[in-house]
This record gives sequence, structure tokens and C-alpha cells, in this order.
Amino acid sequence: MNRLAGKVALVTGGNAGIGEAIAKVFAREGAAVVITGRRQDQLDRVVGEIGQQQGKSASVVGSVTDDRHVRAAVSQAILQFGALDILVNNAGVGEFGRRIHELDDETWTRVLDVNLTGVFRMTRAAVSEMLKRGQGSIVNISSIASLVGIPFLPAYAASKGALDALTRAIAIDYAKDGIRCNVVNPGLIATPMAAPLMANPEQLDPILAHYPIRRPGKPEEVANMVLYLASDEAAWVTGGTFTIDGGMTVW
Ligand SMILES: NC(=O)c1ccc[n+]([C@@H]2O[C@H](COP(=O)([O-])OP(=O)(O)OC[C@H]3O[C@@H](n4cnc5c(N)ncnc54)[C@H](OP(=O)(O)O)[C@@H]3O)[C@@H](O)[C@H]2O)c1
Repeated sequence: MNRLAGKVALVTGGNAGIGEAIAKVFAREGAAVVITGRRQDQLDRVVGEIGQQQGKSASVVGSVTDDRHVRAAVSQAILQFGALDILVNNAGVGEFGRRIHELDDETWTRVLDVNLTGVFRMTRAAVSEMLKRGQGSIVNISSIASLVGIPFLPAYAASKGALDALTRAIAIDYAKDGIRCNVVNPGLIATPMAAPLMANPEQLDPILAHYPIRRPGKPEEVANMVLYLASDEAAWVTGGTFTIDGGMTVW
């Protein structure tokens, strides 16, 4: 299938976990994909694996906390592939084990800077290009932590709740310009971020007891939802919140 034929996509945090799955699904569907992340070796690995499947991709190393990197990533998409049609704001960091009275300023600032301000920076740079062509699709990767209370994640929950609100603000502001913006809210997904939890049955089993489908999600399952929202099949979909959580939040 070629649901993204001729499209150019930028996926932040495309060198691991959910972002890697999104980059590979997009490339399989015909998009040229620029991936970002801070680890060059992992970027090289994903670009190599996409190339082995006859997909087109490139990488730009850096952090979404650095506006020069963010602008370089958008420029790379234009220079190498001629456009920017799709932005997936996926890069994110977690936070484990503390309540707010134990939380230090450094952790709060770091989580907000990557998960929320990073999306602001990347979207600002990408929208400037999308406006020139009068089209674009932005998909933000949030979490069920923005929808229900989850213990020991105060900064993470705040960053993702604000990301959901930011998504709606972007959707409203740019609908008339042909740019759509939606947010995907996954439950527990088997990625490196969740690896410490997945390796500890004493912690994992009580969490999975809250999931009607009693297993963690797969990165590819999230990627397939993102594919729909990024594609022209979702031409009338903007400002939406799309939960993918094995039923966790409706139980
Ligand atoms: N796994 C879950 O259970 C789960 C559930 C709900 C939502 N999510 C969300 O899904 C997204 C992806 O998570 P994941 O589980 O795939 O995590 P992951 O396996 O830890 O991957 C995170 C990705 O983000 C990149 N990244 C982290 N900080 C960055 C920064 N400052 N600048 C640029 N890239 C950065 C990482 O690359 P480098 O390390 O090379 O920078 C990596 O590619 C996140 O937004 C996360 O909050 C995950």
C-alpha cells in the first residue's frame, strides 16, 4: 500500500520505540521520512533498516530543546526531499517514582521542556513551511496520563495535558490554512521507555489489571493510528484526541 505516496514526514524521536515504528510504517507507505533524536548510532540504525526495505529516510541529530536543531531538521526535509507535509511530535521523556512534594525543579523543567516546549518549537518551525504550500498534518504523541490520574507522574501528566490543549489550539488556528492537528494518547506501550516497568512483574501485573485487553500495546499499533491521522484519509479530522489503550480509560 502507498497511503503516503509523495509525502515528506518529520518524526521526532524516530530512532527508538514508538517513533521508530512510526518512521518505518510511514516509509513503507511511500513517505520520505526525516527522523530526529540525540543518539546518532540509533538514527543510523533506523535509516539503514528503512533503506534495506527500499524506503527513503534521512536523519538529523539533536534535541528538541535546541531551536537551532529544530530549524535544521525542518530545513533538511525541504533540502533533501523538497517539502514538509507531515510532522509527528513524538520525542518525549518519562519520569518515575515521585510525588510533587518530592519533585525537584530540574526534573519539572526538563520534562516540560522536551514534552511540551519541544512540540511548540518544532511545530512553529514546521508550520511556517506548511503555510507556504497550504497543507499539512501534525500528529502529537501524548499519553493517557493526560486523561486519567496515574500515580507518580506529576510533571509528565502536566506536560501531556498541556499538549492535548495545545493540539486543539493549533487545530483551530490553522484549519482555514489546510493544516490539521490531532493528538494520540497511548496507554502502556512496550518500548525502551517502559522497559524497566516491563521487566518487573511485581509492578507490571497490578498495572495490567487495569487494562481490559491484558497486555501492553505494541509500537506498531500506535503507528497505524498515526498513519491514518497523517494521511489524506483523515482530511476532515482535526483537533481530535485519539486514545489507544486496550480499553484502560473506559474501564
Ligand atoms: N511507552 C509508553 O508506555 C508510552 C505511553 C504513552 C505515551 N508515550 C509517549 O510516546 C512517545 C515515545 O515514547 P517511547 O515509549 O517510544 O519512548 P522511548 O522508547 O524512550 O523513545 C523516546 C524517543 O524520544 C527521543 N528523545 C528523547 N528526548 C529527546 C530530546 N530531548 N530531543 C529529541 N529526541 C528525544 C529518543 O531519542 P534519543 O534518546 O536519541 O534522544 C527516542 O527516540 C513519548 O512522547 C512518550 O511520552 C509512551
